[in-house]
Amino acid sequence: MRLNKFLSNSGLASRRKCEEFILQGRVSVNGKIVNALGTIVDEKKDEVCVDGKRLTLPSTFVYLKMNKPKGYACTASDERGRKTIFDLIESDVRLFNVGRLDYDTEGLLLLTNDGDFANLVTHPKFHFEKEYHATVEGEIKEGDLAVLRKGVVIDGKRMPDARVKLLSYDGKFSKVAVIIDEGQNHQVRKMFDAIGHQIKLLKRVRVGEVRLGGLSRGKTKPMTEEEIAFFKGIK
Ligand code: URA
Repeated sequence: MRLNKFLSNSGLASRRKCEEFILQGRVSVNGKIVNALGTIVDEKKDEVCVDGKRLTLPSTFVYLKMNKPKGYACTASDERGRKTIFDLIESDVRLFNVGRLDYDTEGLLLLTNDGDFANLVTHPKFHFEKEYHATVEGEIKEGDLAVLRKGVVIDGKRMPDARVKLLSYDGKFSKVAVIIDEGQNHQVRKMFDAIGHQIKLLKRVRVGEVRLGGLSRGKTKPMTEEEIAFFKGIK
């Protein structure tokens, strides 16, 4: 098995992130640091360590969905000492988040120890939709929606086009559904910045066919067989 596959299957991180660990010289095989991405390991015999800690392959995979609250970082340890999503999880196995939400964004986040699964869900070539509900200051008019649909230009770069729909306006705030299938950093916030409306609350309600549903803030629950199969069925 390739070393990056071994690392991600052990629950360390997605396969691309594991390649960074290898290039940073943090991975050893049988006591020797390896830097070559193509390294092959024998998963039954070789001793693979990251930062000196031994990793093993899990006997079962875990797939969870979480309602991430605002004010939690999507990282295993935050350099600024902020609370992280892992403070909210009790799990015997080491999990990692599939993609990220900003510190101030809430809503649906997937977690797993299956590196192949994480790779599949986050890979741009599969175009899994992500749906957000953005509560923004002021009234969003039809013209604003048209600009967002075309793809706004930020720092000279056109954002991918988005499907947007006004859900409500209460005289002060508008609530807008936004569906995108590519994830640039802070994409939804940048889209609304570009049309001069600040986001007050951003919530992800769906990834592919998996919905947040009635899951309470800060809680996790296992994904259903159907939800897992939805992603695995698309190759
Ligand atoms: N877009 C954003 O701006 N923030 C998120 O957390 C997710 C998508």
